[in-house]
This record gives sequence, structure tokens and C-alpha cells, in this order.
Amino acid sequence: MIIAQLSDFHVRPHGQPAYGIVDTNAATRQAIDAVLALEPRPDCVIVTGDLCDCGLAEEYEIVRAELERLPMPVYAIPGNHDRREVFAEALGQDSAYLPKHGFLHYTVEDFPVRLIGLDTVVAGESGGEICAEREAWLAERLAEGQGRPTLIFMHHPPFAVGIDGMDCIPARVSPGFVALIARHPEIERVVCGHYHRPIQRRFAGTIGYVAPGTAHQVALDLRPGTENRLVMEPPAFAVHVWKPETGIVSHLQPIGDYGSSRPFVLDPAYPGKQEAVVAYV
Ligand SMILES: [Fe+2]
Ligand SMILES: [Fe+2]
Repeated sequence: MIIAQLSDFHVRPHGQPAYGIVDTNAATRQAIDAVLALEPRPDCVIVTGDLCDCGLAEEYEIVRAELERLPMPVYAIPGNHDRREVFAEALGQDSAYLPKHGFLHYTVEDFPVRLIGLDTVVAGESGGEICAEREAWLAERLAEGQGRPTLIFMHHPPFAVGIDGMDCIPARVSPGFVALIARHPEIERVVCGHYHRPIQRRFAGTIGYVAPGTAHQVALDLRPGTENRLVMEPPAFAVHVWKPETGIVSHLQPIGDYGSSRPFVLDPAYPGKQEAVVAYV
């Protein structure tokens, strides 16, 4: 099973760049093109929040048009730049997976890996939350899974990443959340967005993963007390590949034209086996 994870489109109304400088709409188009170019094609796509920059209906119309270009199922979860009601109205029309009211949580049972989308949004705040009610919902869903391999996806990371500008806007978690995750070793990953750069860490007995953005990134800044700044480093998306013998293996795929792939032609001085002219690693 192949899952493409796109994150943080930050789509804007036509002609209005995000933050006045980032053409997020063109970046979204290129991200969708990059997914379509994958061979083999992913079985599904998950989008981990901030689909729009301001949660406007006209922004969602653009998102919808882009997502409709994908032939495989797409499962989206809102972020702090989304507005839950507008999101549900715009994306729920053709999407049976989205609930009609309340938190936009759901499970997807159609694949070898169970997908659980968790809504971490707190309206009006940049940070998110997994409150007791959301934890209880997740506990029930995990209990139903009977140990099947599971991928949990959400917008706000529910763990610290050691960068001050990011750690002030995580998903605050209820007291039992970490233990709940730890009790379910079938959880292959907890994958998120929100921080606009690739990050991974050990978390609650599984792997916590943050995908980069499909447009702008947040500059790496490990100095204490600094604020997030955006940077136009190469956009990318995650490709999570599951096989029974490996579990999930996560790859990062840059978006952009970097030329075609080429064979490795060995130099005669190469110290390995000399009989092969062409090697593949
Ligand atoms: Fe974002
Ligand atoms: Fe965000």
C-alpha cells in the first residue's frame, strides 16, 4: 500500500499570494502534478491540514478543483488555517468519509493499513488540542481496529520537536493520550503537518512524523527563543509505503524539476567489484 501525504497547501484566492509573496496556488498545482507522476501511483492521498490560508470558500473551490485531478481517494483533515464548517461544506459534498457535524474525525477501513484522521483544530487558535473528548473517540476507534496496522494523521503534532517557534503551537494533549498511543503498537506512525519541514522523532512507542509543506517551508532555527520564519526551500511530500514484511517505510519526495534520473556509471578507480560497468547504488 502506498500513501502520499501532502500538507499545508495554504491556497489563496486567485492572484493573492500567501503572506504577500508565496504563490501557494501554483505550488499546490505542482504538488498534485508530482503525485500524478509517481509510478506506481499511490493507493490514496492524505492531506494533513492548512489546505487554505484563510479558510475562505473561494480558497476551498481552488483546493477542490486541484484535489479532483487525483484519481485515487483523498482524505483531508483541517488545520489552524482552515475553518471547520467551510472545510466540511466544500470538501464534504463528494466525500462520504467526512462527518456532517462536530469534529472532523474519521477512519478509513478500505486498505491494508487502517487510516485514522484526527481533528486537532481549536477555532481561533494557531495551536491545536487533543482534548479528553477527542482522546475518548480515538480510544474507541483503536479498540475497534483489533490490532490492524494503523496510521494516525492530524495537523498539529502532539509532541515537542525541540524548536521554540514550533513548540509553542503544538496539539496540547489530554493526560491519557500518550499512554493510549503507547498501548497500541499497531500504530505505525503519527503523521502531521503544521511545521512546514520534515521532522521525525520517537513518540509514545511509535514514530512521530512531520511532513514538509508543498509551498513554503519554515527555516530550521535551533536557537532558543526565536520565532518561525518562512523560507523557500524545496517543497516536498511524504510517500509512506507499507508492506507486511516491513511495516511502513516513509520516503520524502521533493517537488520540482531536478532533471531525469541516470544510471550510476562507475569510475575505473572505484574500489568495489570492477566487472560491473553500471551499478545501481
Ligand atoms: Fe501551515
Ligand atoms: Fe498549521
